[in-house]
Amino acid sequence: MITIDVPVSKPYEVVIGTGILSQIGNRLQQLVPQAKKIAIITDDNVKTLYLAVVKQHLLTVGLEVVDLSIRPGEASKNSDTYIKLQNGLAEAALTGTDAIVALGGGVVGDLAGFVAATYLRGISYVQIPTSLLAMVDSSVGGKTAIDLPVGKNLVGAFYQPVLVLCDTALLETLPVDILNDGYSEIIKYGMLGHPELLKTLAKDQLDLNEVVATCVKMKSDIVCADEFDKGIRKLLNFGHTIGHAIEQVSGYTVSHGKAVAIGMVMDTRAAVALGYCPLECLALLRRLLEKYNLPSSTTYSAEAIYEGATRDKKREGDQLTNVVPCAVGKCELTTISMAEFYHWIKKGVNV
Ligand code: GLY
Repeated sequence: MITIDVPVSKPYEVVIGTGILSQIGNRLQQLVPQAKKIAIITDDNVKTLYLAVVKQHLLTVGLEVVDLSIRPGEASKNSDTYIKLQNGLAEAALTGTDAIVALGGGVVGDLAGFVAATYLRGISYVQIPTSLLAMVDSSVGGKTAIDLPVGKNLVGAFYQPVLVLCDTALLETLPVDILNDGYSEIIKYGMLGHPELLKTLAKDQLDLNEVVATCVKMKSDIVCADEFDKGIRKLLNFGHTIGHAIEQVSGYTVSHGKAVAIGMVMDTRAAVALGYCPLECLALLRRLLEKYNLPSSTTYSAEAIYEGATRDKKREGDQLTNVVPCAVGKCELTTISMAEFYHWIKKGVNV
C-alpha cells in the first residue's frame, strides 16, 4: 500500500493499493470519530458492483448506512440531482458530525463533494474513486462542482475530503474504454512535468499502483503550492479548456478523457505552429494517445469550440490562462486574450 500526504489547509491522506477497500470502516471511524450515520452516494452502475461490500464494511464497525444513487453520466451532475441528494440527506437525518462516502467516478465525486461542502454548511466526506480518471485526478485536490446548462463545473467549491481511498482492484470491472479515459489524464501529468512517466506509459506492462501514486504525488505537490487555483495549479488544465468546450458542445457525448486528449493535441499543434514547442512533442503525444485508443482530432469547428470556451469557468474577463507545452514533459502558463485564444484554437485545428 502507498500513502501520499496532501498537506493542504485541511490535510489528508490518499491511500493506494489493491484490495484495500475493507479498510474503509476503521479509517472512517478514526477520521470522523463522532459519525454514527454514513451516506454513500454512488451511481446505478457502481451500486450493483460495490455498494453491498462497502456497506458491509461500514456496518461491521457499527456505523449506520444510507445510500443514495444517481443515474450514471455527466448529465446527472446538475442542480436537480444536487437538490435530490440534499433532500435525501435531510430525510435520512444526517447530522453535522456524520459523513458522506462518494463511491464512483468523477461525476459522483464532484457532485457528492459539492453536496458535502454545502449540506449543513459542510460535513466530512471520503472519496472512494472507482475509475482510473477519478483516482489520478478528480478525487484529489478538493475541487467539487455541478454543471449548468451553459457550461461545465460552473457552480462549485474547494472542499477537501478527509480521505481518498484508491483500491485499484475496483478497476478490474471498468470497461476498457472508460479505463482509457484515465490514461488521458495520466498522459497529461507526463506532458506537463514528468518525462519519465511518459517513458513508463510507452511500456506494455505497468504497475498501476505506482502509476496512480506518481500522478497523485504530482497533484498533491501542485495543489499544496496553490490550493485555490490562482497560479501553478492551472497547469493541470493542460488540454482542458478546449476539452471542456468539446464536452459541452457535444452535449457530453464525448467523454472527459477523450475531450482532454483532443484538447492536448490541439494545444500542442498550436504550440508547434507558433514555434513554442518542438514537433517531437506532438509526435510523442499522438503515439501515446493512440496506444491507449484515445482520439487526436475532432469534427467540431474552431468556431464551435471557441463558442464553448467563452463560457469556461477559467475565463477572467477578456482573458484566460493558457497552458502551453514547450518541451517533452514541460508546460508553461501564459495569459492571453479571448481573441488570441480563438487564433490558438484555429492553429490547433488546422496545422
Ligand atoms: N482537475 C484539475 C484540478 O484539480 O486542478
